[in-house]
Amino acid sequence: MSLTHESLEAGVTIEQEEMVLHSLHPLNAGIAPEVAREKFITPQKRFFIRSHGSIPDVDGETYRLSVSGRVKVPLELSLDDLRIEFASSSVVATLQCAGHRRSELAAVQPIRGEVAWDADAISTAEWRGVRLREVLLAAGIGPGVKHVAFLGLDEIEKGGERFGFGASIPLEKALSGEVLLAYEMNGEPLTREHGFPLRVVVPGYIGARSVKWLGGIRLQASPSNNYFQRHAYKLFPPDTQAADANWEEGKVLSDLAINTVICRPRASEVLPAGPVTIQGYAITGEGAHIEAVELSLNGGATWREATLLERPHPWTWCFWEASFQLEPGCYEIVARAWDSRGRTQPANLREVWNFKGYMNNAWHRLHVSVF
Ligand code: MTE
Repeated sequence: MSLTHESLEAGVTIEQEEMVLHSLHPLNAGIAPEVAREKFITPQKRFFIRSHGSIPDVDGETYRLSVSGRVKVPLELSLDDLRIEFASSSVVATLQCAGHRRSELAAVQPIRGEVAWDADAISTAEWRGVRLREVLLAAGIGPGVKHVAFLGLDEIEKGGERFGFGASIPLEKALSGEVLLAYEMNGEPLTREHGFPLRVVVPGYIGARSVKWLGGIRLQASPSNNYFQRHAYKLFPPDTQAADANWEEGKVLSDLAINTVICRPRASEVLPAGPVTIQGYAITGEGAHIEAVELSLNGGATWREATLLERPHPWTWCFWEASFQLEPGCYEIVARAWDSRGRTQPANLREVWNFKGYMNNAWHRLHVSVF
């Protein structure tokens, strides 16, 4: 569907094309896999949107970013300060929400209270801004700093409280050259829904750490106390249910898991016999890159390697394709990827099911009929 600002009561001026709307308040919209696979760099109008609360209307003129906590000199930076006093830098990075492919998990066992993302919470952009590293060094990193926390200017209501979305990343990642404070996406200023005027982009991490509408950065000894770092975005084993979860024990999510999605053909498509090209993308985390993608047409009994269309890149998805001659019949197409650290994906959804529905990276499967 197309989303235009007329269709949004919130007064958010956006013009999204071919998006799958999951909810209006908060605004959550995905990009169907076959649309995502059309362009390596996703146009802003098609980039998936994940928000937990309001979409703030920030005035770029009066906007100030505060840098505080264990710093030598606290900073208050305007957009001009960032543009003039720091070198601009860009990174091409894919953002993927931890809830990507949740609906497949929900089909195994219900998942309550979460957005029912299909394989539609992933997109790639060229981000431009300043390196977080440069801003941290300008403020001076004080003793004992281990984490860098971010706070958004949005408002989320939970348990009778209102607060901004927050996250933190380890200092080591924050000092790596790839983490940006971005003010542009694909050569245009960020749109409101993607975080105008400034957002964090943490390549290789789940999207939740790339805080939008960034209001403040705090250098601290421990991770952020914000609900979205301390509580949500934690992974539990398949046999833990929400009622018996000990939240202190969940694994805090940061690096993306190796994953792949078949984008074409679509699930349940009916195809004429003859040549069929199967297309998709794969992605991995921890600065590794995709080494191989394998396809099976018989549910995983035998495999053939697909062709990777991109040169190795640590922070983006990698497009792949393979052509087959298909005879009439029913096929279960399965895809799995391997990365430069020798990692591959688990075969079954049951192995990765968790009550929050995060990080589904089981082999991607779909059925097609050929006549
Ligand atoms: N930042 C703020 N301030 N508020 C949010 O709700 N959502 C996070 C992250 N940053 C969020 C946020 C999540 S869960 C994801 S996946 C990414 O933003 C999505 O970024 P996008 O909407 O630009 O695709």
